[in-house]
Amino acid sequence: MASKSFSLLLVLLSIFVASSSYEAATIGDDYHPIIDLKNATIVSIGKLAVKEHNDQAKTTLEFVSILEGEYKKVVLGTKYKFVIAAKNGAPKPENYEAVVVRGGSIGLVLISFKQLLGL
Ligand SMILES: *[C@@H]1O[C@H](CO)[C@@H](O)[C@H](O)[C@H]1NC(C)=O
Repeated sequence: MASKSFSLLLVLLSIFVASSSYEAATIGDDYHPIIDLKNATIVSIGKLAVKEHNDQAKTTLEFVSILEGEYKKVVLGTKYKFVIAAKNGAPKPENYEAVVVRGGSIGLVLISFKQLLGL
């Protein structure tokens, strides 16, 4: 009897180990494209990325639109990589690459924000 419940424990344990290593494998996956770049949630994340960059860098970039977007699951939530068109004083928008992570416990964290030159 005791050995029966021990083997049951082993089976449960190996299921648990197998599923958690599957989890770890999916977290390392590549980015997936965001198809609907006008989706309100996606646009608001893009706007927040520009706002956060303005706050940090004391700039006054004005969000125009998201030109490209991709996402992947990470431990803390979802990581987004955007190409954002934004105006920097001039009428013609310039392109910027923003990387943010959004998650329940962290809100929105700007990882990087840089101007894309020569595009
Ligand atoms: C917009 O994107 C969010 C986050 O990916 C998703 O949950 C939602 O269903 C999308 N809404 C529409 C209208 O596609």
